[in-house]
Amino acid sequence: MAGVVGTQQEIASAADESATSLTLAVLLSGTGRSLANLLRVIDAGSLQARISVVISSRPAVRGLEIADGAGIATAVIERKGFPDDLAYSEAVYAVVAPYQPDLIVMAGFLRKLIVPPEWEGRILNIHPALLPESAAGKGFYGERVHAAVIASGADESGASVHVVDNEYDAGPVVMRAIVPVLPDDTPASLGARVFAAECELYPEAIRTYAAEHLDLIAAGRRQRSGG
Ligand code: GRF
Repeated sequence: MAGVVGTQQEIASAADESATSLTLAVLLSGTGRSLANLLRVIDAGSLQARISVVISSRPAVRGLEIADGAGIATAVIERKGFPDDLAYSEAVYAVVAPYQPDLIVMAGFLRKLIVPPEWEGRILNIHPALLPESAAGKGFYGERVHAAVIASGADESGASVHVVDNEYDAGPVVMRAIVPVLPDDTPASLGARVFAAECELYPEAIRTYAAEHLDLIAAGRRQRSGG
């Protein structure tokens, strides 16, 4: 069965290539702390990847400056320019496609993306709480998430990397990191503890997810080469 052999070869090839060069597109909306962290771990050699493009849903944000400073191509695509989430999403994928990422990585991206079949399983997000049980969904971002966790009386919070599907913060969880909620925590102090955990978690989750989904990486590369 030549087709099956070919697929296995492609997966093996993706394994070889992804060991040296996982290509990522980063989507953000703000300060770019997560982008800066990914660049730091890539520079340090602990995440074998390169970021081929950064797209922001907001103009003039710090995340774009960080990308510029690292010599990465950038684009701003504001939601207000489009009639609905689908048109917005299509515009994002149209800009991303020429940069040929294996994975799209959301890093503080506050807009909804509709996931078409060709991107299913190849978009990751990080949420600053424990999914699926914690504060999540539209409007839950930044300190609102940490305030909700403190108000719930939970003694643990953390961060969750998940696959993006067509619901906010609802796709399958890839990996979580847990931190304690301390009695005197404020949203800011809890947020700082969670973000420190995110800095370890996101690169580790990207690395692990890619290694465990070489079939998806290979399929994406096959689509791009027109095979
Ligand atoms: C992180 O807390 C992450 O969990 C959430 O956005 C924050 C990063 O955004 N998705 P930024 O890098 O500070 O803009």
